[in-house]
Amino acid sequence: MQNVQAAHPDRSPIGANSVTIDNLELRFPNGYVGLKSTNLHVPGGQFCTLLGPSGSGKTTLLRALAGLVTPTRGRIAIGQKDVTTLPVQARNIGFVFQNYALFPHMNVADNIAYPLKLHKWSAADRTDRVKEILDLIELSHAAGHSVGQLSGGQQQRVAIGRALAYRPSLLLLDEPMGALDRRLRQQLGADLRDLQQRTGITAVYVTHDQEEAFILSDKIAVMRQGEILQYSSPGELYARPRSRFVAEFLGEANLIDAQSTDGKGHAMTAYGSIGFAGHTSTNGKTTTPALLVRPEDIAFSSNRTSPTPTSQSALAQPLKVEVLKTLFLGSRCLVTVKAPDGKELLVECNKSGLPQQGEAVSITWDRSATVLLGS
Ligand SMILES: Nc1ncnc2c1ncn2[C@@H]1O[C@H](COP(=O)(O)OP(=O)(O)OP(=O)(O)O)[C@@H](O)[C@H]1O
Ligand SMILES: [Mg+2]
Repeated sequence: MQNVQAAHPDRSPIGANSVTIDNLELRFPNGYVGLKSTNLHVPGGQFCTLLGPSGSGKTTLLRALAGLVTPTRGRIAIGQKDVTTLPVQARNIGFVFQNYALFPHMNVADNIAYPLKLHKWSAADRTDRVKEILDLIELSHAAGHSVGQLSGGQQQRVAIGRALAYRPSLLLLDEPMGALDRRLRQQLGADLRDLQQRTGITAVYVTHDQEEAFILSDKIAVMRQGEILQYSSPGELYARPRSRFVAEFLGEANLIDAQSTDGKGHAMTAYGSIGFAGHTSTNGKTTTPALLVRPEDIAFSSNRTSPTPTSQSALAQPLKVEVLKTLFLGSRCLVTVKAPDGKELLVECNKSGLPQQGEAVSITWDRSATVLLGS
């Protein structure tokens, strides 16, 4: 089971083709620039996610990859092959969209077989391949069911199976789980990642759900206004965002304005000098520096035994703050505190360490958890 690499004899197996986008620019007929000089390289077999707010150009980039819109400038290659001017059908790409677009009058097996029929596979080859795909998506028992009888999650698996049937060189997915509830999205996300790894296919996935992007991706391209702001692994994006936008888009972030830096890992702020360990490149753009510290890296220091700051502390002294509100989130609590300058900071703690609303407390964090950001 699940050996999709056992290839159809006269067709190449699902391949781990890389995707390379060089200086791609796309201007719509109405003059709107949908993509500004975009570069991206997805190594073969990797799962890349385009993540960004609504209107940031995720679908446009995916459509350009597919050949559904024509770039104004630049180059797209799949593997070694330049596909920039190739029509959709010559690119050998599998698609999955949000509204799966299954054929309602066909059963599950016929839906999967449909692209094979279009490509004139013989009846025997189609039967073998559909069986493989049904195994892969774990719906062998539902081969003869009409798609209307399936749950949303099952329909999505059929859509993915259908996209993989013709052994595409690349799988593109545009918010394929947008219509499903959160629990099902998590389950299907795990299934999809598993499927992608077992087939070894290169995937480009679009979502605006940060958690989904973290779970699924080898690398994430964060987009805003037709640009890729940062392209890194999930861990790198979270720990070393290169801009305020990326820091705030991925998780909760405390950003403290920095007036100046001394070039030796210290920044002058409203709370005095703060040490930082991470220093992100600012791509040469004019910047207003800020220090990033994540809520889970800040600790309350006990009022009774005020700890002596160590060389690891970012601040010379714990910062005195007032607890404004506390939020119980099940496995963790999120506390909003007011700093001496009136700025609100978020602190994460567990239930046992939860302070009272209105309480005066102190907070500390380590310099290793502090990152200097550009604009
Ligand atoms: N055919 C078009 N002509 C003009 N502008 C367009 C066209 N298609 C998209 N746009 C614009 O390009 C921008 C990017 O659109 P796109 O659909 O790529 O966003 P997105 O990141 O996928 O957003 P969402 O998360 O809402 O799906 C938007 O401002 C949109 O209005
Ligand atoms: Mg979109």
